[in-house]
Amino acid sequence: MYRLFFDLIFKRMDPEKAHHLAFAWIRAAARVPVLRTLVAAVLAPRHKALRTEALGLRMHGPFGLAAGFDKNAAAIDGMSMLGFDHIEIGTVTAQPQPGNPKKRLFRLVADRALINRMGFNNDGSAAVAERLAAREAIFRTTVGVNIGKTKVVPEEEAVADYVTSTERLAAHADYLVVNVSSPNTPGLRNLQATEALRPLLAAVREAADRTVTSRRVPLLVKIAPDLADEDVDAVADLAVELGLDGIIATNTTIARDGLGLRTPKGTVEAIGAGGLSGAPLKERSLQVLSRLYARVGDRITLVGVGGIETADDAWERILAGATLVQGYSAFIYEGPFWCRKIHKGLAERLAASPYATLAEAVGAETRKKAAA
Ligand SMILES: Cc1cc2nc3c(=O)[nH]c(=O)nc-3n(C[C@H](O)[C@H](O)[C@H](O)COP(=O)(O)O)c2cc1C
Repeated sequence: MYRLFFDLIFKRMDPEKAHHLAFAWIRAAARVPVLRTLVAAVLAPRHKALRTEALGLRMHGPFGLAAGFDKNAAAIDGMSMLGFDHIEIGTVTAQPQPGNPKKRLFRLVADRALINRMGFNNDGSAAVAERLAAREAIFRTTVGVNIGKTKVVPEEEAVADYVTSTERLAAHADYLVVNVSSPNTPGLRNLQATEALRPLLAAVREAADRTVTSRRVPLLVKIAPDLADEDVDAVADLAVELGLDGIIATNTTIARDGLGLRTPKGTVEAIGAGGLSGAPLKERSLQVLSRLYARVGDRITLVGVGGIETADDAWERILAGATLVQGYSAFIYEGPFWCRKIHKGLAERLAASPYATLAEAVGAETRKKAAA
């Protein structure tokens, strides 16, 4: 039914307008008590076997909403109502900014992919912090806060920019993510080089500890799939060295591999710059995740994201080493029953597996390969 609805309504609309419309509906539904209870009962039935402990937090399950969908923390309960086990808001920057000129979000329907060059359009960390502070949570969910660099701030002042957002947001974050991997902010991805990343992560850690003294806010870094393998290893080693809590693999890619087979010739070129997400990203995101797990094992929590469409995809990431998994693009194509399908499928796969718990399954395939 959703496919028909997508074809008739969303597909004919500009993708960003369609996003805002769907977003408004989700928020509106979450405001009506009877409706949200009903929707959550249908779309977010909880499976005991999927209960997950990660980053020192208890979650209903391992499957969350990736950053970028709810940039301003405006629909946390709405997304939780749809079944996401954690919601990563952001990317939030220290200064509010409009993002890149429109048009900046493109669908490649036949390839089940998106290209975006949104450019961190967001209200800024002061406004988002205020919104989070005022939030009266309806559903118990985990809220991750993803922070990035303000576009107009020069690279030399990036650390101070991230620290400002950390000071404002850490208190409201169940976990904090340093995003250094969006392709749409010039120079941002240079911060992935260890010489730049080490002082950045150390400063954010210090700022989080200074601002929040009642608990230790878990800190993660989100990396690009376009890093060379040696650079993936270098980030993994740095994460261990700094005692980081997690790595999120991966953000969107600037590559265009695996595209164009189904999409009419010239379409991709005409779209131009931006990060590609969805099905074509699946293989590389999985590779990066497996590589990270082979390097860090259970010392660091890994979050698998990129091209996850089905429960099989999510299960594959867990076996590769992900304790948590996230998705964004497939939600656009699959619609509101997506989380329900993923949860049901994951519970079935776990039951049919030799593993008693999800935690036991984490990394099993990568460990097997290493032992062979
Ligand atoms: C329109 C759009 C906006 C995004 N914005 C952000 C963002 O602000 N910060 C971020 O860390 N990732 C952002 N992402 C990347 C996603 O969080 C995710 O890493 C990526 O899309 C791969 O997952 P997917 O294939 O399931 O979409 C965005 C993705 C899309 C499609």
